Amino acid sequence: MSAFKAFVIDQDENRKVVSRLTTMQPEQLDAGEVLIRVAYSSINYKDALAATGAGKIIRRFPCVGGIDLSGEVVESADARFKPGDKVIATSFDIGVAHHGGYAQYARVPAGWVVPLPAGLDLFEAMALGTAGFTAALGVVRMEDNGLAPANGPVIVTGATGGVGGLAIEMLAQLGYHVVALTGKEAEADYLKMLGAAEIKLRASIDLDKVRPLEAAQWAGAVDNVGGPILHWVLATMKQAGTVASIGNAASFKLDTTVFPFILRGVSLLGIDSGYMGFPTRQRVWDRLATDLKPRHLAAVTRTIGFDDLPAAFDDFIAGKVKGRTVVRIGG
Ligand SMILES: NC(=O)c1ccc[n+]([C@@H]2O[C@H](COP(=O)([O-])OP(=O)(O)OC[C@H]3O[C@@H](n4cnc5c(N)ncnc54)[C@H](OP(=O)(O)O)[C@@H]3O)[C@@H](O)[C@H]2O)c1
Repeated sequence: MSAFKAFVIDQDENRKVVSRLTTMQPEQLDAGEVLIRVAYSSINYKDALAATGAGKIIRRFPCVGGIDLSGEVVESADARFKPGDKVIATSFDIGVAHHGGYAQYARVPAGWVVPLPAGLDLFEAMALGTAGFTAALGVVRMEDNGLAPANGPVIVTGATGGVGGLAIEMLAQLGYHVVALTGKEAEADYLKMLGAAEIKLRASIDLDKVRPLEAAQWAGAVDNVGGPILHWVLATMKQAGTVASIGNAASFKLDTTVFPFILRGVSLLGIDSGYMGFPTRQRVWDRLATDLKPRHLAAVTRTIGFDDLPAAFDDFIAGKVKGRTVVRIGG
Protein backbone atom coordinates (compact mmCIF):
# COMPACT_ATOMS: atom_id res chain seq x y z
CA MET A 1 0.00 0.00 0.00
CA SER A 2 1.42 3.40 -0.99
CA ALA A 3 0.52 7.03 -0.34
CA PHE A 4 -3.16 7.81 -0.83
CA LYS A 5 -5.52 10.77 -1.22
CA ALA A 6 -7.38 12.16 1.79
CA PHE A 7 -9.46 15.19 2.80
CA VAL A 8 -7.93 16.36 6.06
CA ILE A 9 -9.48 18.80 8.56
CA ASP A 10 -6.95 20.68 10.70
CA GLN A 11 -6.49 23.91 12.68
CA ASP A 12 -4.17 26.78 11.73
CA GLU A 13 -2.00 28.68 14.22
CA ASN A 14 -5.05 30.80 15.20
CA ARG A 15 -7.07 27.61 15.87
CA LYS A 16 -9.23 28.33 12.83
CA VAL A 17 -10.48 25.19 11.10
CA VAL A 18 -8.84 24.60 7.71
CA SER A 19 -9.49 21.61 5.47
CA ARG A 20 -7.97 20.41 2.19
CA LEU A 21 -7.33 17.49 -0.11
CA THR A 22 -3.85 16.11 0.51
CA THR A 23 -1.79 12.92 0.48
CA MET A 24 -1.39 10.60 3.46
CA GLN A 25 0.98 7.74 4.19
CA PRO A 26 -0.36 4.34 5.33
CA GLU A 27 1.38 4.69 8.72
CA GLN A 28 -0.65 7.86 9.41
CA LEU A 29 -3.88 5.86 9.63
CA ASP A 30 -5.34 5.35 13.09
CA ALA A 31 -5.24 2.04 14.97
CA GLY A 32 -7.89 -0.60 14.33
CA GLU A 33 -8.30 -4.23 13.35
CA VAL A 34 -9.84 -3.67 9.92
CA LEU A 35 -8.18 -1.90 6.96
CA ILE A 36 -10.76 -0.89 4.34
CA ARG A 37 -10.32 0.32 0.75
CA VAL A 38 -13.00 3.02 0.69
CA ALA A 39 -15.42 2.91 -2.24
CA TYR A 40 -17.91 5.63 -1.23
CA SER A 41 -18.55 8.13 1.52
CA SER A 42 -21.33 10.69 1.91
CA ILE A 43 -22.00 14.21 3.18
CA ASN A 44 -24.18 14.68 6.23
CA TYR A 45 -24.97 18.03 7.89
CA LYS A 46 -22.47 17.04 10.58
CA ASP A 47 -19.73 16.55 7.95
CA ALA A 48 -20.37 20.08 6.69
CA LEU A 49 -20.19 21.50 10.23
CA ALA A 50 -16.90 19.63 10.74
CA ALA A 51 -15.24 20.54 7.43
CA THR A 52 -16.15 24.23 7.55
CA GLY A 53 -15.63 24.71 11.28
CA ALA A 54 -19.24 26.00 11.52
CA GLY A 55 -19.71 23.57 14.40
CA LYS A 56 -17.25 22.24 16.97
CA ILE A 57 -17.45 18.69 15.69
CA ILE A 58 -13.83 17.55 15.34
CA ARG A 59 -12.45 16.29 18.65
CA ARG A 60 -8.93 15.50 17.39
CA PHE A 61 -6.90 17.52 14.86
CA PRO A 62 -5.81 16.67 12.23
CA CYS A 63 -8.63 14.34 11.23
CA VAL A 64 -9.74 12.90 7.91
CA GLY A 65 -13.39 13.95 7.58
CA GLY A 66 -16.34 11.78 6.60
CA ILE A 67 -18.50 10.09 9.26
CA ASP A 68 -19.63 7.42 6.75
CA LEU A 69 -17.78 4.94 4.55
CA SER A 70 -18.37 1.78 2.60
CA GLY A 71 -15.73 -0.38 0.94
CA GLU A 72 -13.83 -3.64 0.83
CA VAL A 73 -11.71 -5.16 3.56
CA VAL A 74 -8.00 -5.23 2.65
CA GLU A 75 -6.65 -6.66 5.91
CA SER A 76 -8.30 -7.80 9.13
CA ALA A 77 -6.90 -8.85 12.49
CA ASP A 78 -10.45 -9.78 13.57
CA ALA A 79 -11.92 -13.17 12.68
CA ARG A 80 -15.30 -11.63 11.78
CA PHE A 81 -13.83 -10.02 8.63
CA LYS A 82 -11.58 -11.23 5.81
CA PRO A 83 -10.04 -9.53 2.75
CA GLY A 84 -12.62 -8.88 0.05
CA ASP A 85 -15.59 -8.58 2.44
CA LYS A 86 -17.85 -5.66 1.63
CA VAL A 87 -18.51 -3.55 4.71
CA ILE A 88 -20.06 -0.36 6.08
CA ALA A 89 -18.57 1.77 8.85
CA THR A 90 -20.45 4.79 10.21
CA SER A 91 -20.66 6.71 13.47
CA PHE A 92 -18.62 6.16 16.66
CA ASP A 93 -15.46 8.35 16.36
CA ILE A 94 -15.24 8.07 12.55
CA GLY A 95 -14.56 11.43 10.92
CA VAL A 96 -14.55 13.31 14.25
CA ALA A 97 -11.82 11.75 16.43
CA HIS A 98 -10.59 8.93 14.15
CA HIS A 99 -9.63 9.30 10.47
CA GLY A 100 -12.85 8.95 8.46
CA GLY A 101 -14.31 8.11 5.08
CA TYR A 102 -12.90 10.95 2.94
CA ALA A 103 -9.75 8.94 2.13
CA GLN A 104 -8.89 6.06 -0.17
CA TYR A 105 -8.15 3.91 2.90
CA ALA A 106 -9.50 3.77 6.45
CA ARG A 107 -8.44 1.64 9.40
CA VAL A 108 -11.08 1.22 12.11
CA PRO A 109 -11.85 -1.00 15.12
CA ALA A 110 -13.76 -4.15 14.14
CA GLY A 111 -16.54 -3.21 16.57
CA TRP A 112 -17.46 -0.25 14.33
CA VAL A 113 -17.78 -2.35 11.16
CA VAL A 114 -21.07 -3.78 9.81
CA PRO A 115 -21.04 -6.46 7.07
CA LEU A 116 -22.87 -5.10 4.01
CA PRO A 117 -26.30 -6.76 4.21
CA ALA A 118 -27.62 -8.70 1.20
CA GLY A 119 -29.95 -6.34 -0.66
CA LEU A 120 -27.65 -3.30 -0.55
CA ASP A 121 -24.59 -2.47 -2.65
CA LEU A 122 -21.73 -0.23 -1.53
CA PHE A 123 -23.21 2.80 -3.30
CA GLU A 124 -26.69 2.32 -1.81
CA ALA A 125 -25.17 1.92 1.64
CA MET A 126 -23.74 5.44 1.33
CA ALA A 127 -26.85 6.88 -0.33
CA LEU A 128 -28.40 5.86 3.00
CA GLY A 129 -25.35 6.54 5.22
CA THR A 130 -25.79 8.02 8.66
CA ALA A 131 -28.91 9.88 7.46
CA GLY A 132 -30.64 6.66 6.43
CA PHE A 133 -29.43 4.76 9.47
CA THR A 134 -30.73 7.51 11.74
CA ALA A 135 -34.09 7.78 9.99
CA ALA A 136 -34.49 3.99 10.22
CA LEU A 137 -33.41 3.97 13.88
CA GLY A 138 -36.09 6.58 14.55
CA VAL A 139 -38.74 4.47 12.80
CA VAL A 140 -37.67 1.28 14.61
CA ARG A 141 -37.65 3.00 18.01
CA MET A 142 -41.10 4.53 17.37
CA GLU A 143 -42.51 1.16 16.31
CA ASP A 144 -40.99 -0.46 19.41
CA ASN A 145 -42.87 2.22 21.34
CA GLY A 146 -46.21 1.18 19.82
CA LEU A 147 -46.49 3.33 16.69
CA ALA A 148 -48.51 1.67 13.91
CA PRO A 149 -50.14 3.01 10.72
CA ALA A 150 -53.64 2.66 12.24
CA ASN A 151 -52.72 5.07 15.07
CA GLY A 152 -52.89 8.12 12.76
CA PRO A 153 -50.70 10.46 10.70
CA VAL A 154 -46.96 10.89 11.20
CA ILE A 155 -45.29 14.28 10.62
CA VAL A 156 -41.67 14.63 9.44
CA THR A 157 -39.93 18.00 9.94
CA GLY A 158 -36.93 19.19 7.91
CA ALA A 159 -38.60 17.16 5.18
CA THR A 160 -36.32 18.00 2.26
CA GLY A 161 -33.16 17.16 4.22
CA GLY A 162 -31.29 13.87 4.02
CA VAL A 163 -32.82 12.36 7.16
CA GLY A 164 -36.24 13.88 6.47
CA GLY A 165 -36.62 12.62 2.90
CA LEU A 166 -35.50 9.10 3.79
CA ALA A 167 -37.82 9.01 6.84
CA ILE A 168 -40.74 10.03 4.60
CA GLU A 169 -40.00 7.20 2.17
CA MET A 170 -39.59 4.57 4.87
CA LEU A 171 -42.77 5.55 6.70
CA ALA A 172 -44.80 5.76 3.48
CA GLN A 173 -43.60 2.32 2.43
CA LEU A 174 -44.71 0.93 5.78
CA GLY A 175 -48.21 2.29 5.14
CA TYR A 176 -48.19 5.45 7.28
CA HIS A 177 -50.04 8.62 6.28
CA VAL A 178 -47.03 10.95 6.16
CA VAL A 179 -47.21 14.73 6.47
CA ALA A 180 -44.05 16.55 5.34
CA LEU A 181 -43.27 19.83 7.13
CA THR A 182 -40.95 21.97 5.00
CA GLY A 183 -39.74 25.51 4.46
CA LYS A 184 -39.46 24.90 0.71
CA GLU A 185 -42.80 25.38 -1.05
CA ALA A 186 -41.20 24.62 -4.42
CA GLU A 187 -40.31 21.08 -3.33
CA ALA A 188 -43.90 19.87 -2.83
CA ASP A 189 -43.76 17.57 -5.88
CA TYR A 190 -40.45 16.08 -4.73
CA LEU A 191 -41.90 15.36 -1.29
CA LYS A 192 -45.02 13.78 -2.81
CA MET A 193 -42.81 11.62 -5.04
CA LEU A 194 -41.13 10.35 -1.85
CA GLY A 195 -44.51 9.33 -0.48
CA ALA A 196 -45.75 12.32 1.53
CA ALA A 197 -49.56 12.33 1.54
CA GLU A 198 -49.70 15.99 2.62
CA ILE A 199 -47.28 18.93 2.54
CA LYS A 200 -47.38 21.49 5.34
CA LEU A 201 -45.42 24.72 5.04
CA ARG A 202 -43.45 25.98 8.00
CA ALA A 203 -44.74 29.49 7.27
CA SER A 204 -48.30 28.27 7.97
CA ILE A 205 -47.46 27.84 11.67
CA ASP A 206 -47.34 30.89 13.92
CA LEU A 207 -44.52 29.70 16.15
CA ASP A 208 -44.89 32.71 18.48
CA LYS A 209 -48.41 31.68 19.46
CA VAL A 210 -48.17 27.96 20.16
CA ARG A 211 -50.13 26.99 23.30
CA PRO A 212 -48.98 24.16 25.60
CA LEU A 213 -51.61 21.91 23.99
CA GLU A 214 -53.07 22.46 20.54
CA ALA A 215 -55.51 20.34 18.52
CA ALA A 216 -54.16 16.76 18.56
CA GLN A 217 -53.08 15.70 15.07
CA TRP A 218 -50.11 13.31 14.98
CA ALA A 219 -49.64 9.75 16.18
CA GLY A 220 -45.95 10.00 15.42
CA ALA A 221 -43.32 12.61 14.57
CA VAL A 222 -39.76 12.57 13.27
CA ASP A 223 -38.17 15.89 14.22
CA ASN A 224 -34.97 17.00 12.51
CA VAL A 225 -35.03 20.66 13.45
CA GLY A 226 -35.60 21.16 17.22
CA GLY A 227 -36.41 24.57 18.76
CA PRO A 228 -39.91 26.13 18.47
CA ILE A 229 -40.94 23.57 15.84
CA LEU A 230 -40.35 20.69 18.23
CA HIS A 231 -42.42 22.57 20.84
CA TRP A 232 -45.24 22.88 18.26
CA VAL A 233 -44.90 19.18 17.36
CA LEU A 234 -45.18 18.18 21.02
CA ALA A 235 -48.23 20.43 21.51
CA THR A 236 -50.00 18.87 18.52
CA MET A 237 -49.41 15.17 19.32
CA LYS A 238 -52.33 12.82 19.75
CA GLN A 239 -52.88 10.78 22.93
CA ALA A 240 -50.00 8.28 23.43
CA GLY A 241 -48.15 9.73 20.42
CA THR A 242 -44.44 9.14 19.87
CA VAL A 243 -41.86 11.73 18.84
CA ALA A 244 -38.34 10.84 17.66
CA SER A 245 -36.01 13.78 18.33
CA ILE A 246 -33.22 13.50 15.77
CA GLY A 247 -31.83 16.90 14.88
CA ASN A 248 -31.30 20.57 15.60
CA ALA A 249 -31.18 22.14 12.12
CA ALA A 250 -33.21 25.09 13.48
CA SER A 251 -32.09 25.14 17.13
CA PHE A 252 -30.68 22.94 19.88
CA LYS A 253 -32.98 24.62 22.41
CA LEU A 254 -36.35 23.30 23.52
CA ASP A 255 -38.70 25.59 25.43
CA THR A 256 -41.85 23.59 26.07
CA THR A 257 -44.18 22.33 28.81
CA VAL A 258 -44.78 18.96 30.47
CA PHE A 259 -48.46 18.91 29.39
CA PRO A 260 -48.03 16.72 26.27
CA PHE A 261 -46.29 14.16 28.50
CA ILE A 262 -48.58 14.19 31.54
CA LEU A 263 -51.94 14.94 29.87
CA ARG A 264 -51.53 13.06 26.57
CA GLY A 265 -48.97 10.40 27.48
CA VAL A 266 -46.68 11.53 24.67
CA SER A 267 -43.23 9.87 24.48
CA LEU A 268 -40.18 11.87 23.41
CA LEU A 269 -37.53 9.42 22.18
CA GLY A 270 -33.92 10.57 21.87
CA ILE A 271 -32.26 9.18 18.75
CA ASP A 272 -28.47 8.92 18.81
CA SER A 273 -27.05 7.07 15.82
CA GLY A 274 -23.47 7.76 16.88
CA TYR A 275 -23.01 5.26 19.64
CA MET A 276 -25.84 2.80 18.96
CA GLY A 277 -24.16 -0.57 19.43
CA PHE A 278 -24.85 -4.10 18.28
CA PRO A 279 -27.19 -5.94 17.81
CA THR A 280 -29.46 -2.92 17.18
CA ARG A 281 -26.99 -1.47 14.63
CA GLN A 282 -27.10 -4.68 12.57
CA ARG A 283 -30.89 -4.97 12.98
CA VAL A 284 -31.39 -1.46 11.61
CA TRP A 285 -29.05 -2.07 8.62
CA ASP A 286 -30.86 -5.35 7.88
CA ARG A 287 -34.17 -3.48 7.76
CA LEU A 288 -32.57 -0.79 5.55
CA ALA A 289 -31.76 -3.59 3.11
CA THR A 290 -35.31 -5.01 3.18
CA ASP A 291 -38.62 -3.40 4.14
CA LEU A 292 -37.17 0.04 4.92
CA LYS A 293 -35.06 0.27 1.74
CA PRO A 294 -36.29 3.43 0.00
CA ARG A 295 -37.64 2.80 -3.49
CA HIS A 296 -36.48 6.21 -4.72
CA LEU A 297 -32.96 6.07 -3.32
CA ALA A 298 -31.40 6.99 -6.68
CA ALA A 299 -33.80 9.92 -7.11
CA VAL A 300 -32.90 11.44 -3.74
CA THR A 301 -29.16 11.00 -4.26
CA ARG A 302 -26.57 12.97 -6.22
CA THR A 303 -23.01 11.72 -6.61
CA ILE A 304 -19.93 13.95 -6.54
CA GLY A 305 -16.27 13.13 -7.20
CA PHE A 306 -13.56 13.22 -4.54
CA ASP A 307 -12.15 16.43 -6.07
CA ASP A 308 -15.57 18.15 -5.78
CA LEU A 309 -15.69 17.59 -2.03
CA PRO A 310 -14.04 20.81 -0.72
CA ALA A 311 -16.59 23.03 -2.53
CA ALA A 312 -19.63 20.96 -1.52
CA PHE A 313 -20.06 21.82 2.16
CA ASP A 314 -21.30 25.44 2.15
CA ASP A 315 -24.70 24.59 0.67
CA PHE A 316 -25.36 22.26 3.60
CA ILE A 317 -24.63 25.02 6.09
CA ALA A 318 -26.93 27.36 4.13
CA GLY A 319 -29.77 24.76 4.24
CA LYS A 320 -29.87 24.68 0.41
CA VAL A 321 -29.28 20.97 -0.12
CA LYS A 322 -32.03 18.54 -1.07
CA GLY A 323 -31.71 14.81 -0.45
CA ARG A 324 -28.46 12.87 -0.12
CA THR A 325 -24.94 13.39 -1.48
CA VAL A 326 -22.65 10.42 -2.11
CA VAL A 327 -18.91 10.99 -2.55
CA ARG A 328 -17.21 8.61 -4.98
CA ILE A 329 -13.86 7.79 -3.40
CA GLY A 330 -12.64 4.64 -5.16
CA GLY A 331 -15.96 3.07 -6.16
N1 LIG B 1 -29.31 12.15 16.23
C1 LIG B 1 -28.50 11.64 15.33
O1 LIG B 1 -27.88 10.58 15.51
C2 LIG B 1 -28.37 12.37 14.01
C3 LIG B 1 -27.90 11.70 12.88
C4 LIG B 1 -27.90 12.39 11.65
C5 LIG B 1 -28.33 13.72 11.60
N2 LIG B 1 -28.72 14.33 12.75
C6 LIG B 1 -29.20 15.72 12.73
O2 LIG B 1 -30.45 15.73 12.06
C7 LIG B 1 -30.63 16.99 11.39
C8 LIG B 1 -30.94 16.71 9.93
O3 LIG B 1 -29.78 16.12 9.33
P1 LIG B 1 -29.68 16.04 7.73
O4 LIG B 1 -28.42 15.31 7.41
O5 LIG B 1 -30.98 15.60 7.19
O6 LIG B 1 -29.49 17.60 7.40
P2 LIG B 1 -29.81 18.38 6.04
O7 LIG B 1 -29.78 17.43 4.89
O8 LIG B 1 -28.95 19.58 6.04
O9 LIG B 1 -31.37 18.79 6.23
C9 LIG B 1 -31.83 19.64 7.25
C10 LIG B 1 -33.22 20.18 6.83
O10 LIG B 1 -33.78 20.89 7.95
C11 LIG B 1 -34.53 22.01 7.47
N3 LIG B 1 -33.95 23.23 8.05
C12 LIG B 1 -32.72 23.73 7.81
N4 LIG B 1 -32.55 24.88 8.48
C13 LIG B 1 -33.70 25.08 9.17
C14 LIG B 1 -34.16 26.11 10.05
N5 LIG B 1 -33.38 27.14 10.39
N6 LIG B 1 -35.39 26.01 10.56
C15 LIG B 1 -36.18 24.96 10.25
N7 LIG B 1 -35.80 23.96 9.40
C16 LIG B 1 -34.58 24.03 8.88
C17 LIG B 1 -34.43 22.01 5.95
O11 LIG B 1 -35.55 21.25 5.44
P3 LIG B 1 -36.95 21.93 5.01
O12 LIG B 1 -36.61 23.21 4.31
O13 LIG B 1 -37.61 20.91 4.13
O14 LIG B 1 -37.71 22.17 6.27
C18 LIG B 1 -33.16 21.19 5.70
O15 LIG B 1 -33.16 20.60 4.43
C19 LIG B 1 -29.35 17.78 11.63
O16 LIG B 1 -29.55 18.65 12.72
C20 LIG B 1 -28.33 16.70 11.97
O17 LIG B 1 -27.28 17.20 12.75
C21 LIG B 1 -28.75 13.68 13.94
